[in-house]
Amino acid sequence: MNSGVNYIPLFTPNVPQSAIEAVSRTLNSRWIGQGPQVDEFEELLSKTFCGGDPGIAVGSGTDALHLAYLLAGIGPGDEVIVPIFTCTATNIPLLYIGAKLIFVDVDPVTMNIDFDHLSGLISEKTKAIAVVDFGGCPVDYVKLYELIGERNIKVIQDAAHSIGGSYGGVSVGSMADFTIFSFQAIKHITTGDGGYLSFKNRDLLPMARRLRWFGIDRVSKSKGHWDNDIKEIGYKYQMTDISAAMGIAGLNEFPQTLELRKTLFRQYLSHLSSSNKVSVIADSNNYDGHAAWVFSIHVEQREKLQQKLIEQGIESSQVHYRNDRYSIFGSKVPNLKNMDKVEETYLVLPLHTKMANSDVDRICDVILSD
Ligand SMILES: Cc1ncc(COP(=O)(O)O)c(C=O)c1O
Repeated sequence: MNSGVNYIPLFTPNVPQSAIEAVSRTLNSRWIGQGPQVDEFEELLSKTFCGGDPGIAVGSGTDALHLAYLLAGIGPGDEVIVPIFTCTATNIPLLYIGAKLIFVDVDPVTMNIDFDHLSGLISEKTKAIAVVDFGGCPVDYVKLYELIGERNIKVIQDAAHSIGGSYGGVSVGSMADFTIFSFQAIKHITTGDGGYLSFKNRDLLPMARRLRWFGIDRVSKSKGHWDNDIKEIGYKYQMTDISAAMGIAGLNEFPQTLELRKTLFRQYLSHLSSSNKVSVIADSNNYDGHAAWVFSIHVEQREKLQQKLIEQGIESSQVHYRNDRYSIFGSKVPNLKNMDKVEETYLVLPLHTKMANSDVDRICDVILSD
């Protein structure tokens, strides 16, 4: 069964009617590639989430991560501490660069980085730390920067899941040296595919813009005569106005989107937070700051539960896998005690804008049934 009125998919795209109209208008306009709507989307994102910090809109969250690593000055052989549990997009750009990846274990409570393990990995050789806010649960970045202390280590926050989240009253987008958002098909805001890179150091903006477009200064080039030598190797990472039109519309509706997601998240919590059958994956000190991209749990006998759910027309999935399972990252990393322990227990449940609280009730009934 994969359809019908009662079927609950794990994810669905959130495309407001206003986005459809905006794309249609854009397709009838002069600019469909990177143009004024990309500029407008960047301004809005900077103002809404990033405290006015500079940033660039790009073709995907993965593009944003690649550019963040380049702008952080990471080069071949540089050591970067990275999460073992994340979308491969966090880590693959570092393979392109030829950096040396040092995997940090998960905290089983949040599936984010484990601070105890991290503190033993930081060394004089550490150039940067990449961190993911799994499922929408922001990491405690104050604690992270305290751990880094005076060392010159850049932090790259992969906030693909956590747009709209906060920790200690600070919003995601204003926490780290570099933050990336994803506007891929199933994210809070979608542009089909798209991403945004925000950074604290304004001096990096011209280089960021050049690297996004082959290494060319677009303003010089637009003068129509030769004035644009290429001195850095960039790539074609820009967002289009078609995507930006969708993004602006999605951003306008973001408060309602986030509130609906948070309502569903709270509904899950009300059923499952005190259950002895499952444990909730989230930071109980910061439920309010959770951006509610997904709701996930640990459960013994995961396959059995997945089977029970799908028999009732409810999808569930692991979504991400420990990255050392993929050959490109080398062999299995020894002594990741937490990851080894929870590898067979974590499970992601449906949470999206086509759901109502009654859907969460139904899912939780299945989970809690004998
Ligand atoms: C944690 C994480 N980081 C990065 C990405 C990459 O984003 P995009 O698909 O926009 O390239 C994703 C997935 O979409 C993700 O889940």
